[in-house]
Amino acid sequence: MDKLRVLITRRQIAAKVAELGARISADFAGEPVLLIGVLKGATIFLADLARQIELDVSFDFIAVSSYGSAKRQSGEVRLVKDVDHSVEGKNIILVEDILDTGLTLTYLTNLLQAHRPKALKIAALLDKVSRRMEPIRGDYVGFQIPDEFVVGYGLDFAEHYRNLRDICVLESDSNTA
Ligand code: PRP
Repeated sequence: MDKLRVLITRRQIAAKVAELGARISADFAGEPVLLIGVLKGATIFLADLARQIELDVSFDFIAVSSYGSAKRQSGEVRLVKDVDHSVEGKNIILVEDILDTGLTLTYLTNLLQAHRPKALKIAALLDKVSRRMEPIRGDYVGFQIPDEFVVGYGLDFAEHYRNLRDICVLESDSNTA
């Protein structure tokens, strides 16, 4: 039986997302921004963040190979779905639910930078700093969290729990020492 412990409440999330949206609105005042969500975990954060940005906002989505032992062991990230439109000359904000080892965002920032955006920033709701394998940091970071298995607000365990409104630590038999 899975046990869930609330780590970050829906109220804390909403307040932080509003704060990040206000910062983005101020930083890019008067300019359009293109939010690129990294499927699938970022979808809920992107939907809420977009509505807190008072600018001309467009969406695109990108997908990479799933989080598995292969990536952890080899550091390999594979592109599964590219963006639909060119990023050249645009203000890009890569939107992630969680910055963990940093392999995904290192790969994606290198990929997108090659197409010469005007600006390229990272918004990550959660940041597990202790797990970092690449020297990458978010520009708009919600919460730094400990190295625990979290679900909810877009984050899953085997595709479950993405729709939880709070971010919870999953404490299951298979997940505890
Ligand atoms: C998770 C998360 C990030 C990535 C972060 O995605 O959404 O994309 O892992 O990990 P990293 O910093 O170690 O690269 P996941 O592969 O679980 O896919 P999902 O978003 O579809 O759940």
